[in-house]
Amino acid sequence: MFSTKQLDSFKKRTTPFYFYDLNLFRKTLEQIKEHGVSKGYHIHYALKANSHPQILAEIVKAGLSADCVSGGEVERATECGFSPNKIAFAGVGKRDIEIEIGLKNNILCFNVESVQELQVIDQLASQNNQTARVALRINPNVDANTHKYITTGLKENKFGINEKDLPDIFKLLPTLNNIELVGIHFHIGSQIEKLEPFKKLCLRANELNDIFENKGYTLTIINVGGGFGINYSNPDENGIPDFKKFFGTFEKHINLKPHQQLHFELGRSVVGQSGSLITRVLFTKTGIEKNFAIIDAGMTELIRPALYQAKHEIQIISDHANRPEKQYEIVGPICESSDVFRTGYEIAELKRGDILAIRSCGAYGEVMKSQYNLRHEIGTAFSDETE
Ligand code: LLP
Repeated sequence: MFSTKQLDSFKKRTTPFYFYDLNLFRKTLEQIKEHGVSKGYHIHYALKANSHPQILAEIVKAGLSADCVSGGEVERATECGFSPNKIAFAGVGKRDIEIEIGLKNNILCFNVESVQELQVIDQLASQNNQTARVALRINPNVDANTHKYITTGLKENKFGINEKDLPDIFKLLPTLNNIELVGIHFHIGSQIEKLEPFKKLCLRANELNDIFENKGYTLTIINVGGGFGINYSNPDENGIPDFKKFFGTFEKHINLKPHQQLHFELGRSVVGQSGSLITRVLFTKTGIEKNFAIIDAGMTELIRPALYQAKHEIQIISDHANRPEKQYEIVGPICESSDVFRTGYEIAELKRGDILAIRSCGAYGEVMKSQYNLRHEIGTAFSDETE
């Protein structure tokens, strides 16, 4: 996975740092274009997964649209070259000032998550003499079979408008003079590994699409969100998610009317496998029942294991020839017992100074880091070396 040249450059750097393989990233974008964009689908990249300007520059170059969830992300997207008419602005709790940012930029649409939000956007748009384009995020009550913290489409989740509120919405819409309803939006969760939930989503989306059309609304945008998972246990063999199968599922099951566009909001599957967290072993110690390897990255640099019990592959990438395998608890330096990357993890015997790569960290890695414990800011490295 890592070339000798890359490894040599790692040896000279202070760890930990995030490393991005631009070659793999570009190939991933090519697959998205080949299997999604070529079908006429509009693919919004979910900035929340990774909003590094260099990553965004590649995405702009590939011609994708943007999915933002804060005023800050809308600003970042425009600064990095996304055209405002390609920006969707989602989020269950937008502040007025953030809605103003969307209005000022005349973005493609707001994905609206409650009746009250719809009224507030109408009010703010009216104050600015504007019409806000809106897609209603409807909670489809489809189980994504993923971790409970990242499932979003069940009726008990805080996200989206419940179907029971639709009669109110239909009554309200004609009274909102500064709202143009342009679409419906769904997102059922993240790290969805099977295609079945996406099929169920299509069937629900078709039903809801018919309900709106029968009420006389012409919806242009059918936005089915993101959520396509990546293979955390085998990043080398599955460096690029199977976009052919993913988009194929929608092609097969979604019923678009002739005037309708299919939109997606993909984050993790776009950038997840292209990033690694590079770290060094600080110390090893033998406990009563286990061996500990204490590394210089912690939950401050990658919170996913502590927060979602996520399991990232950890590879030793500096020289380790002829070392026996051993079992470790690989832990970070933070003063929290949850600062554990792996338990009972089989890896070559570790020594102080070994360089490790924590894989599949391109999405929800760097963006979720914190300065807890007053940790020093860490660096980022990019390589566009081709193999
Ligand atoms: N659209 C909406 C409305 C979303 O809420 C999300 C992610 C996406 C699109 C992009 O989903 P993706 O394609 O990346 O699955 N921090 C968690 C993931 C949180 C996902 C939040 N919403 C993690 O590290 O697993």
